[in-house]
Amino acid sequence: MQIVKTIDEVRKTVKAWKREGLTVGLVPTMGYLHEGHKSLIERAVKENDRVVVSDFVNPTQFAPNEDFESYPRDIQADAALCADAGASLIFNPEADEMYTDALTFVDMNKITKVLCGKTRPIHFSGVCTVVSKLFNIVTPDRAYFGEKDAQQLCVIRKMVRDLNFDIEIVGCPIIREADGLAKSSRNTYLNEEERKAALCLNRALKLGREMAEGGETDAEKVVNAITAEIEKEPLAKIDYVEMVDLNTLEMLKTAEKPLLCAVAVYIGKTRLIDNFIME
Ligand code: PAJ
Repeated sequence: MQIVKTIDEVRKTVKAWKREGLTVGLVPTMGYLHEGHKSLIERAVKENDRVVVSDFVNPTQFAPNEDFESYPRDIQADAALCADAGASLIFNPEADEMYTDALTFVDMNKITKVLCGKTRPIHFSGVCTVVSKLFNIVTPDRAYFGEKDAQQLCVIRKMVRDLNFDIEIVGCPIIREADGLAKSSRNTYLNEEERKAALCLNRALKLGREMAEGGETDAEKVVNAITAEIEKEPLAKIDYVEMVDLNTLEMLKTAEKPLLCAVAVYIGKTRLIDNFIME
């Protein structure tokens, strides 16, 4: 497995693979890889002849007050995980390689303005821009994204349709710790007390899912029950709890499938997200 820093090298390698008739999967990441990322890479390895993992903490998706500088990085450990999962190449560019003098950005209306987009207004423009660039650099047959970031997955699917990328988008289920906390690179920010407090997200979502699966059709009742459960935790401060249509991300009055029930909660200073989907 090679670690590549330049766009030219990625292009040359992928072109050689394609001349041999090989298929290519892409797993975009910001590194500090864990089992959640690994599940995406392993799925990609199963479904493609070659797999590229991009490992790039993308500055354009962080606002100035966010954690770009402190975001954890460990390329050596990432390389070991990628090799173990069967990836063929890691693309690990510097910010200058990706963004020298860039004036062009990919922006999207509506579905980027709700949920996480309310608190993070520039976030999805940064995500769409970097993912478009990665799609153009790697030209994969398939690209893999986690349901952990359900809004991101929805936004990428829409971008691919709107901009006619000839790429299949594959969504992969959330991987959790044994106690239910969704795996995330940001979990490393939590101290011991906060780590325990963070369990309230999954606990509350489980309760909400049970209600919805048990026949509760009033979306507000489900949202209120989730909110009340999270509010029992003194270290938790809710950013949002919402039940929305999985495709349009419009708020639901009635809990009708396909639905996405998503939460964002600050545990101390760390903002965590989690969700459940009913299709
Ligand atoms: P990052 O947070 O590193 O996540 C990379 C991919 O791993 C995303 O598709 C995310 O949904 C998935 N993922 C993270 N935790 C997961 C878990 N517990 N279970 C399953 N999948 C999980 O998302 C980004 O990076 C960036 O926004 C990116 C798309 C790379 C653009 O910069």
